[in-house]
Amino acid sequence: MITSRTWTKESLAELIERRLGGAKLIVVSNREPHLHRYGEGGDLECVSTTGGLATALRPILAASQGTWIAHGAGNADRDTVDEHDRIAVPPANPCYTLRRVWLTPDQEEGYYYGFANEGLWPLCHIVFRRPVFRIANWNAYQEVNRIFAQAVIEEAGSGPAVVFIQDYHFCLLSRMIKEMGGTNLTVAQFWHIPWPNHEVFRTCPWSQELVDGLLGNDLLGFHTRNHCQNFFETVDRSFEAMVDREGWRVSRGGHITSVRPFPISIDFMANETLASSAEVDAAMGKWRKRLRLGDRLLGVGIERLDYTKGIPDRLRALDYFIERHPEWHGKFTFVQIAAPSRTHLPEYQAVDDEIEALIEQLNWRWGREGWQPVLFLKQQHGTVDMMALHRLCRFFIVNSLHDGMNLVAKEFVASRTDDDGVLILSKFTGASRELDAALAIHPFSIHETMAAIHQALVMDAEERARCMKSMREKVARNNVYRWAGSILSQLMNVDAVETAVNDDAALD
Ligand code: F6P
Repeated sequence: MITSRTWTKESLAELIERRLGGAKLIVVSNREPHLHRYGEGGDLECVSTTGGLATALRPILAASQGTWIAHGAGNADRDTVDEHDRIAVPPANPCYTLRRVWLTPDQEEGYYYGFANEGLWPLCHIVFRRPVFRIANWNAYQEVNRIFAQAVIEEAGSGPAVVFIQDYHFCLLSRMIKEMGGTNLTVAQFWHIPWPNHEVFRTCPWSQELVDGLLGNDLLGFHTRNHCQNFFETVDRSFEAMVDREGWRVSRGGHITSVRPFPISIDFMANETLASSAEVDAAMGKWRKRLRLGDRLLGVGIERLDYTKGIPDRLRALDYFIERHPEWHGKFTFVQIAAPSRTHLPEYQAVDDEIEALIEQLNWRWGREGWQPVLFLKQQHGTVDMMALHRLCRFFIVNSLHDGMNLVAKEFVASRTDDDGVLILSKFTGASRELDAALAIHPFSIHETMAAIHQALVMDAEERARCMKSMREKVARNNVYRWAGSILSQLMNVDAVETAVNDDAALD
């Protein structure tokens, strides 16, 4: 019997082996876990995707030796697959199959940039960016969902299979798979972003089609109970369906979809081990030198360059902090790392320009000989470099205006084996439910954010250790293996498992 205990890679593998039987595991996501490209000198290189989704799913695939279906986006991807568009990965230790799906530039533009990221992304993150819905993008979205459905059917073959779909790129996929003959397939989907209330969701002209598509799943997972409740409300007010809130399920057209919260997490132990390595120690030394840190305290923010992350608000709060607290002039440095993302879209270019302008103004206003308050690094950084900053900083700030979970906050906590450092965390992240010992801020309040920055800088060591210890215990327990194990257990009807409905991490 599986009870409440710390899940590990091994216990997840054991669950998969025991419960999957002969069934094949197929994971579907837009972003591929490994991308092949030609480097500047023409050399072939394989890049492993960073980010929560890939980190969470790799161990499941490795344990099940399954198949991962994703969009082949690398310029060398086609040259590295076999005649069935498959390749064994990861390159160093091949243990599962990556099946690449090809899209034309028009399909990628309409489905990924257009419908998913100009439409559904702002629709679900309520940060006051108007979603864009164009019929051509909707058509591309349907077309691409159909292409992926075909790939799932091919990969499943005739045997039983469990299909695990990721995210808002594939609202129509589960129903399409079943309609294409995959009735013997068990299908689950995890929604990695927030689900808004019905009033908001219905502003999408195809909201009913999207919800109906999602109800093709046997299990639908969200990060929090609140997102599940919003989904129930959306279903209830969209069409004829039986919504059983107590039983956490929806019945429509004779088919039942279980809807549950499963707060996603990180591989705590692996993070912790790498963060304490000599490699990270060396990187800390390099950062210290580069930042000419000396006795100065360090503040850090790391994320994708996305308007949902609240980077301009953070900079305004820093500016306000410097104005209100002259005693801190020259005594701290703030490093902002932002990995360019979806740069093709105007909203992303606009927030990038806004950030550049704010930093320029801030450094011009407050900088002086030997002190620039903010260092902006607009590029993707490796894990070792990011962990070094985690360990060096006095405070780490996540002030997302809205975020499904935010794994970056959990990664910071995992890195702090010294029980030091302060996490400033937006109340509008899924992670804030669990990381309740962080300094919680209302992300739309520049004043609150400014006050939290000050509090983080003056907090005494005892208080910092008390808060960090409490957060570390929670993330260690609610790790990514527990997330995956809970979803698979639910899907395979393992009733002995402690399901996430009662999880402290899934609280509203
Ligand atoms: O958090 C939502 C999400 O879509 C993740 O699933 C993904 O890892 C991340 O945003 C990055 O998005 P993209 O794949 O568009 O770069």
